[in-house]
Amino acid sequence: MSEKQMLEEKNKNEATPDALAVSRRWLLLGIGACFNAVVGVVVAVPVIRYLLSPAKPDDAYRSWVSLGPIDSFPIGETRLAKFQNPVGRAWDGETDHVACWVRRNAASEFQVFAVNCAHLGCPVRWFPQSQLFMCPCHGGAYYADGSRASGPPERGLFTYDTKIVAGDLQINAGQMPTLANTARLVQIQTPDGGPPCAG
Ligand code: FES
Repeated sequence: MSEKQMLEEKNKNEATPDALAVSRRWLLLGIGACFNAVVGVVVAVPVIRYLLSPAKPDDAYRSWVSLGPIDSFPIGETRLAKFQNPVGRAWDGETDHVACWVRRNAASEFQVFAVNCAHLGCPVRWFPQSQLFMCPCHGGAYYADGSRASGPPERGLFTYDTKIVAGDLQINAGQMPTLANTARLVQIQTPDGGPPCAG
């Protein structure tokens, strides 16, 4: 073997461990990059869906659901009704059934109130004797038309949009009533002619 061949053979033998180290490094880098990409996708998908959701609302958010025939709600009375949450999931169980208060003011005039107090969300109850909705948590009270009567709530009960279709009372239940849509703020004139207060 010539001196040149011996030198090449020596270089080849010396290079092999380095080559192995480099390829192992690239392999680990590749695995790390793949792992980071998977984690990035897992984190990014829900964030992107959340950011885009206002631009493309789910059809369920525009759902009108039935509360039953209008004849099941006597004129001048307030009744508890329940409906299935249109944006619920299979595993929601009993929480999928949402309660609301239905008041029939006239033959085709309804008010449907969210059951949650406008203060901190406790479920309010209707007391026909006093014609008031009462909140058990901090003593909030509302008049029959949902406007604020007393206590810590700063506004009346939240209401759902309603419509009557073929004798059926329906509410726009896809969106929970909030300040952004159907919150009510009624100005009540005080008897002594003072400044109006929020009802
Ligand atoms: S939650 Fe109803 S008064 Fe506070």
